[in-house]
Amino acid sequence: MCGIVGYTGYKKAHSIILNGLERLEYRGYDSCGIALPGKKAIKVEKQLGFVEGLKTKKQYSGFYGIGHTRWATVGKPTVENAHPFTDCSGNIAIVHNGDIDNFISIREKLMNEGHQFSSDTDSEIIAHLIESYDTHTLPESVAKAISELNGSYALAVLSQHTNQLVVARQSSPLVIGIGNNEQYIASDVPAIAEKTSNVIFLEDGDIALLSPEKPEILHNEVPIQRSVHNIPWVSHELGKAGYKHHFLKEVHEQPRVLRDTMSGRISNVTPGVSRHPSLIKHKNPDNIFISACGSAYHAALIGKHFWSNFTSSSINVEIASEIDSLKNVNESDWGIFISQSGETADTITAAGIAKNAGYTTIGLTNTPNSSLTRLVESSIETKATPPETSVGASKTFISQVMELYLLALSSSPVPVNQLYSLLNELRSLSEKAQRTLAMKSTFEEAGKWLAKYDNSYLIAKGINYPVALEGALKLKELAYLHAEAFPAGELKHGPFAMLTESTPVIAIVPDDSHQPRMLTAIKEIKSRGAPIIAITNGDISTISPIADIAINVPSSDSMFMPIINTIALQLIAYYCADTRECPIDRPRNLAKSVTVH
Ligand code: G6P
Repeated sequence: MCGIVGYTGYKKAHSIILNGLERLEYRGYDSCGIALPGKKAIKVEKQLGFVEGLKTKKQYSGFYGIGHTRWATVGKPTVENAHPFTDCSGNIAIVHNGDIDNFISIREKLMNEGHQFSSDTDSEIIAHLIESYDTHTLPESVAKAISELNGSYALAVLSQHTNQLVVARQSSPLVIGIGNNEQYIASDVPAIAEKTSNVIFLEDGDIALLSPEKPEILHNEVPIQRSVHNIPWVSHELGKAGYKHHFLKEVHEQPRVLRDTMSGRISNVTPGVSRHPSLIKHKNPDNIFISACGSAYHAALIGKHFWSNFTSSSINVEIASEIDSLKNVNESDWGIFISQSGETADTITAAGIAKNAGYTTIGLTNTPNSSLTRLVESSIETKATPPETSVGASKTFISQVMELYLLALSSSPVPVNQLYSLLNELRSLSEKAQRTLAMKSTFEEAGKWLAKYDNSYLIAKGINYPVALEGALKLKELAYLHAEAFPAGELKHGPFAMLTESTPVIAIVPDDSHQPRMLTAIKEIKSRGAPIIAITNGDISTISPIADIAINVPSSDSMFMPIINTIALQLIAYYCADTRECPIDRPRNLAKSVTVH
């Protein structure tokens, strides 16, 4: 949460920093700000809301500077609490992503020394703490200051007197972009991908001094070389490609993501799925523990349903934020942690707990070099590239589900005939996903119809129940429509009391063993007067008479229908949100990367 950007070189820094911040808005957009050197003191411009507002304000000249886009944690989202923060002299400015746990005692100490504060944030103390060490060089002052901090930080420090930026990392991501006589820093690669494809991922404890010519990195006060990585995708792929919103574009990338995930993994000769290279050395586990947050948690639930059909291992799925401790296990047991960003604080903490409990830890993430990939023993990189820009997950979710299907099939004794037929179905999924996307007008009609309501429910059974959870999440995030998902059988145990003609129910009615009970549930709902959208790959003629809107989606094996049904719900939520004129890519109060507990 929060994004930071910095530049030093020989070009005008202002527009470079603002463009970078716009690319990082998925990390938060409560407020934003920029700092550049002025004639006598550093100049700072801040405002509430999106970066596009800053673009209309005064453009400062200057060839180096820093910027910030905020998701408020300590201190309300106000202009005063927006970054950057300066010290008392106005010679130092900082931007910070993270949380400083001991900021109150440091602030009191600094106030007693005469420092004046202008915000309620934890971050502002860092500027004053650096100022309090001003007898040293800037990197030395920063090193002294951060040695007093408990907590997490990705920090960038600007000085009025030199074009060198100082940056530091502890538990919050920070990347350096290497240019030709110019250096960039950012919380994440998309901010600088347009400028350079060569990046260095800083490690915890690193401090770097960036001059236009080069970065100098220190770890424990000793100079250190960090590898330069090449970004495998190009920046124009981060645009909207003609779609109205990033979310819609990312939804339409899903057929490709499905293909890319399967590519090279499924054998055509002897039916089989190759185990991911990073897992080859691991023994088959007796116990599998999967944990994640948000959409990634829903993907984990689908994975559990699927995998349980083929393995004798016991599989448990837990929301990462609910894990405080785990019992000790055999080292052959697997702990799988799913996070598209690889930076979700709760998921990383859970992975650490699992590691200490003895699990072989496996990360499933879309972000190589993320905190999660550094922590776990084996990493599987999902293929949802380039990264999502929309806060609501779509293609990363689909890639996680597909990766879990492959993981299950490559680690379980599936009967050959069944495996053969499942692999055939998997191969056709991308084309079926494409056909689902082509049903635009159907989903648009359903989304518009849903937009007039204030509350909604989703019901499903079995492997599609997590799909209903994901659909409800999309309706909340994108369309601000209150939505709750239930296993269909649970309706009678309470939710029925809420049903009226103003509470539409979206029912997932796949052509599988659950269909008869789903049809019964729909009839019961109908008799209470609640409107119904039914999504089915089965015989539409049995559903049309009892549903207000019946949607026939392409059919696949019942265990792969979550992919198709998810796409249907993504599009219904999207068109509902568009009708309600919601800020689809940047929902209020949310951030894509949740780096706080
Ligand atoms: C946030 C995002 C969700 C995401 C969740 C977990 O809440 O808005 O889209 O599913 O974090 O994120 P992760 O990066 O760990 O998958």
